[in-house]
This record gives sequence, structure tokens and C-alpha cells, in this order.
Amino acid sequence: MHTSVRTVIFPVAGMGTRFLPATKATPKELLPVLDTPLIQYAIDEAQAAGIERMVFVTHPSKHAIERYVMDDAKLRSDLKSRGKIALADELQDAALSHRTDDVVFTIQDQPLGLGHAVLCARDHVLPGPVAVVLPDDLILGKGCLGEMIDAYGRDDSGHLVAAMTVAREDTKKYGILTPSGDNGSVLRASGMVEKPDPAHAPSCEAVVGRYILDASIFDDLASQTSGAGGEIQLTDAIAAGISRVGLSGFRFSGTRFDCGSKAGMFRATLNLAARDGECLEVLREHAVASHQTAAA
Ligand code: UTP
Repeated sequence: MHTSVRTVIFPVAGMGTRFLPATKATPKELLPVLDTPLIQYAIDEAQAAGIERMVFVTHPSKHAIERYVMDDAKLRSDLKSRGKIALADELQDAALSHRTDDVVFTIQDQPLGLGHAVLCARDHVLPGPVAVVLPDDLILGKGCLGEMIDAYGRDDSGHLVAAMTVAREDTKKYGILTPSGDNGSVLRASGMVEKPDPAHAPSCEAVVGRYILDASIFDDLASQTSGAGGEIQLTDAIAAGISRVGLSGFRFSGTRFDCGSKAGMFRATLNLAARDGECLEVLREHAVASHQTAAA
């Protein structure tokens, strides 16, 4: 049995409706936090975690993601011919290449839900458990996926999902765990429900966009009947496998930002701006100006 996590799936085929009109022409995953697109943070996190293969599940209208992710030799040569050697080298360092990286792009023709997107990756994953990273959940700090893979290798198997405590009124925005035991950073769970009403939520332990899933997830996804809008939910397939493979939540150490929403994206931008010399100056000017306006 293969227990090491060798593949990451990036589901990037969604419509990004909460970010319209920005996402009319630009995929949500290419929206930048400061100067770096969301997908780049996700790729960096997966590489730091030692992942071998990256599978991008994308949509025909989102070809820009592949153009961004992969090396562009023509652009580099144009930059070099204009003397911009360092910039060309920087782009090459950040980009993936089929010569040196194990990268697959596959298509989800219709946005039939996160579960369906993960199922679209089935024929392209390496044996063993798979990681799923949602690029619009930005987690800053120590690499969350790396922490999860360490924990999975130490004492876990089955499904392991990133978990964080949320306010009770927010349970309706997340998949929520039914905890059955606590072992420090790993929380055993006997169930998981999608977006429960706060009054009926089994806990305030919310699942966010990092998963390590037992390979049986693909059978459980394939046997799901689609729900409203024809969507296949990842949560339902995870729940279907709990009695067989088990489920745990992992309390990661970093800070998570919901960059699928305007406010979350703004919070992430402010957080990174406060660490950037040029932007920190702007934040300070803004704070002074706001203070003066409030005092006037
Ligand atoms: P979201 O539900 O946050 O993304 O999915 P969305 O549907 O694109 O955004 P809104 O809600 O309409 O604003 C989380 C991740 O799953 C992918 C998205 O691209 C995003 O990276 N996804 C979602 C798919 O790949 N396929 C889907 O059918 C749905």
C-alpha cells in the first residue's frame, strides 16, 4: 500500500462569481495578493511540501492559468534581447516546465462542483493518497500542506482535512466536523456536514482548503449522486468514506485568508503589505490621513 502523498490536485475550474466583474476575463486563481497570483502561493506551498506531481483541473475558458504557470521561452528570450536578463531568470525560476517538473493539466468542462473537479483528476494521479489545495484559501506562515503531510506520515491515514475554529454564526459558510476525540493538532471526527445552520452545527471546527484524501475518495466521488445544480460535493464523498478509512481535522499553524471573497482578499493584501517596505509606507500615510479625517 502507498502511504506517501505524491500528488497534489489544484481544482481551478470554478466560475469565481463572487469576484465578478474581475473574473470575467481573469481567472480568480490569477488575481494577485500584492504582486503574486494566488496560484503561485499554492504552487510554492506544494513544492515546499515535497509533492512530485501537480494536477491542475481547469476550464476551457481559463487557459490563462496554464500560460501563467508554465515557462514561456519566447517571453524570456524577448526580455533577454532587451537586456532584462535578471527579470527573465526570475520568471524562469518561478515557472514550471515539462522538462523538469511533473505537471498535468486536465479539463472540467462544466463547473459541476469541487467534488466533480477532484474526480476529473482521477486518471492523472500517482498511486496512494492525494492532496487537494484550493488556491483561493491562502494560508500564510509555515506551509500548511507540509505540516499536514508530516502529521499524516506520523500517525494518520484515511482522510485528513485542514481545520480551524470559526465563530458559531459562520458555520453556515463551511464544512463542519463532528469531533470525536482530540490529540493536540489532530482532531478525530466521526462526521462532516456541509454548511450547517449555526443552531444545528455539530461544532465550530470548520474545514478549509487543504485536504489529504485516501485514494478511495475517487470511488466515493464516482458513486455520489449529484445534488442541486448537478454539483458533486467533496464533503459528501469524504463523509461516505469515514466509517471505512477514518477522518481527522488538522489544526495548522498559519493564518488563513478566504481570498474567494473581497474582504478576505483585502485582509490578505493588508497582511502582506505590512511586511513590504514600499507598501508599509502607504499604510502609514493612510492611517495618518484616516486619523486626521476622524479628528476633524
Ligand atoms: P469556490 O466555490 O470557492 O470557487 O471553489 P468558485 O465556484 O470559482 O467561486 P464562486 O463561489 O463562484 O465565487 C473553490 C475552488 O474550487 C474550484 C475553484 O476554481 C476554486 O479554486 N472549483 C469549484 C472547480 O475547480 N470546479 C468547480 O466546479 C467548482
